[in-house]
Order: sequence, then structure tokens, then C-alpha cells
Amino acid sequence: MTSPGLEVCFSPFLLPTVGHKPDRNVVVVDILRATTAMCTAFGYGVASLLPLITEEEALVKKQQGWLVAGEKDGVKLPFADFGNSPVEFRNPSVRGKDIVYCTTNGTRAIHLAKNYGKVIIASFVNMDAVCSWLKRDGKDVLILCAGWKDTFSLEDAVFAGVMADLLTGAYGFMPECDATIASITLWNQASNDIMKTVSGSSHFLRLLGIENRKSLKYCFYPEKFHVIPMLVGDRMTDLLSLVP
Ligand code: MLT
Repeated sequence: MTSPGLEVCFSPFLLPTVGHKPDRNVVVVDILRATTAMCTAFGYGVASLLPLITEEEALVKKQQGWLVAGEKDGVKLPFADFGNSPVEFRNPSVRGKDIVYCTTNGTRAIHLAKNYGKVIIASFVNMDAVCSWLKRDGKDVLILCAGWKDTFSLEDAVFAGVMADLLTGAYGFMPECDATIASITLWNQASNDIMKTVSGSSHFLRLLGIENRKSLKYCFYPEKFHVIPMLVGDRMTDLLSLVP
């Protein structure tokens, strides 16, 4: 049996350069902060998240009575019930709720990823659960970094590296591109002191005016949850909640 392959894509802009495969898992990562916040929401028992790309679509849903979470350029949407801070979802009141979610890069990346395989989201919150599931599922994997407006984001690349290190090490995946190798190299350099590496990144600095440092640190040292949020139809649902 051949080993499944692993590719990393550092920006949605580069997606057209990634080949199409009939059967693949695509893991979308947006560490600051969309996939960290979404995975935290699932950890606290959210029933589903409906990812949307534009603020206009989210406003229509709000007018239809939906709960809405979202930000534009990091700032909470004026009509939203939640922003994009993971800390807002560390609240038992979110249990069982269906929430529309709209962010600058994360939800867009989720939509683009649909064309490349089955979509899952990951963060430091649920990395172990996702990697174990990917290993069991045995399919090729593409890790898609959401980045910032089609550019490279350091924190997403570092996270791609820790996942790639585990998948190509203990779990036997084959690195299929230089971006995979580069992400592992970056992780090896950053792993001793992640905060030191990421606190100089452009989005970390951008968010410092919006989010407190403790909440940003949570994105790298979060609570851990055994959740695997997967896009099923138009909604993200925890795969584990679907299994009887
Ligand atoms: C995004 O989706 O662009 C980010 O998560 C932005 C943010 O940090 O709110």
C-alpha cells in the first residue's frame, strides 16, 4: 500500500497551482483567528457553523433571525452577535446553536477549498484529533493556509509545519511539495518559543489594537478539544457528532 501524500499551500492565491485529485482531505487553517475560534465553538458544543464570504450575505441571514459571528479586517461586524475572538465562544451558552460565520480570510478559504476535496478545519485546539482522523482516513491531504488577503501569514505557515511534522513523521504521509518541507523547517525553528516567532507577524500586530494579548496567546496555547469540524453541504459540523 502506498503512503498518502501531503501538500501545503501557503495562500489561497496559490490554490490554482495545486493539482486536483479525486479524493482528498483539505485542512483549512487560520490560526489568527477564524479556525481557532470556530474549533473552540465546536469544543463548547455549537451545533453547526454556516460559513459565508461576504458581510452582505451575513446581514441577510441576521435579518432572517440567525445568530451571526464575524469580522471585517479583524473588527466585529456591527450587526453581529459574536466577533471572531475564540474567547467569545468559551461560553456554555453556545451549546446547540447554529451560527452564521463570516470572516475576511478564513471563511473565504473554506469556500475555495471545496473545489479541492473534503473540507476540515484545524487549529492548535484540535490538531491531535484532526491528525489522528487523517491518518485513519488514509487519503491524500492538502493543508490550506488562509493567509491575509491572498498573502502569506507566518502563524498559519508555522501551524501547517507542526501538522506536517506529525503527519510525515509518526503518521507516515509523504511530503509532496517544497512548501510542506519549508513549513516543517519553519516549525522546527519556531517550536522552542512560538510566541516569540509569531508575535512579530503582521496579523498579530494588527490584532493587538483589537484583541488583548492573553486572547491572542490562547490561539497558540488553547484548551484542547476532540472535535473535527467538517463541511457537510453548506455547514460545518463536528464529524464526531455525526457518528452514532
Ligand atoms: C480572518 O478570517 O481573516 C481572520 O480570522 C481575521 C481575524 O483575526 O479576525
